[in-house]
Amino acid sequence: MSFKELWESILKCSFEAQEVIKPYVHVTPVNLSATLSRICGADVFLKYENLQKTGSFKVRGALYKVSKLGRSVKGVVTASAGNHAQGVAYAASSLGLPSVVVMPESASTPKVQATEGYGAEVILYGKVYDDAYQKALEIREARGYEFIHAFNDVEVIGGQGTIGLEIINQISDFDIVIVPVGGGGLISGIASAIKAKKPQVKVIGVEPEAAPKMLLSLSSGKPISIEPKPTIADGLVAKTPGEITFEVVSNLVDEIVTVSEEEISEAIYITLERQKTLVEGAGAVGVAALISGKANVKGKKVVAVLSGGNIDLTILNKVLIRGLVKVGRIVKISGYVPDAPGYMTRILQIIAHHRGNVLDIAHDRSDLKAPAWHAKITILFETPGPSSTSEILRKLKDEGFNFINES
Ligand SMILES: Cc1ncc(COP(=O)(O)O)c(C=O)c1O
Repeated sequence: MSFKELWESILKCSFEAQEVIKPYVHVTPVNLSATLSRICGADVFLKYENLQKTGSFKVRGALYKVSKLGRSVKGVVTASAGNHAQGVAYAASSLGLPSVVVMPESASTPKVQATEGYGAEVILYGKVYDDAYQKALEIREARGYEFIHAFNDVEVIGGQGTIGLEIINQISDFDIVIVPVGGGGLISGIASAIKAKKPQVKVIGVEPEAAPKMLLSLSSGKPISIEPKPTIADGLVAKTPGEITFEVVSNLVDEIVTVSEEEISEAIYITLERQKTLVEGAGAVGVAALISGKANVKGKKVVAVLSGGNIDLTILNKVLIRGLVKVGRIVKISGYVPDAPGYMTRILQIIAHHRGNVLDIAHDRSDLKAPAWHAKITILFETPGPSSTSEILRKLKDEGFNFINES
């Protein structure tokens, strides 16, 4: 099949998918972000696929794929520990089919429960994705179910492409669209729709530095396998792009940029604080590319796709603490203090007086750098902001306590 034929068949699927999936999905909003627009010197719009059914765009491709399977199909099976699992479970239940999702044994309980909640039978198998994948293929054979690939499938890609068609309906003129890249199904669908309707729009893909499979494949001229490192954008971890997605991305995507773990974390924090919306790491990479300046959008009208919001709350907790430290709302100070009654009370009174709220105190008598009969005191506290912290440090100094800000 030539690329033109492939592109045409994806587009055809996207147009058909729009109608097929309509009863089961939300038309997610696209809104201007004043904060991101100010930071980037551009008009930045966000497409809220984190508010989609099941919390990510994945239902679109899964629903369309399942709808195309024909009457003789007995059920569907897939391997995934992520959003695809929930998408397939929801799609199969919505269309009245049984589904099996195989996840590695390490899959988190909330993910297992969510997938079961959407009606799938979840089987935990093996240590890594590849083990689960092999098991899913066995189940396909044994039960005669259809396997649903997460990205390398024209109909799945076509389903994801409905996002591109939706964006075009929601805002008339825009210059750039920014899309997260895992295996490449999402960006292939969106690029196919947007380049067909608005060829002048630039399509930028974003990968984590920890898993730059598409970027490296493009520079090698063919899909190559990488060893991904752990990343907070776990939805974007794939060893290799698909043959189909690689071909679409090589032909239609203008640029791929990569973002660091720190940038992704900051993007989750800013999106929550400013937009009041929760995105997972994979869903935040577009915002990370914007705030880090990796995507050059100055003076342009841009749409960034927030592709999902299913973040593990323990990870969110870490992101928020790091974010609060970064903006100076949580600080750690330390100093040497005489190891005698009454000193700690005075220090804590000064902190409390300036509305500092203590989270943790360490009192270390074993620090050999401490002067004789002194202990090293480290205090972690919430503060209204950097000016209160400076005031606290100044007041402590006035009282003879030499503390430094360690944050
Ligand atoms: C939230 C989120 N965003 C983006 C992606 C990437 O999608 P694709 O693999 O189609 O590139 C995924 C994949 O699971 C995801 O879960």
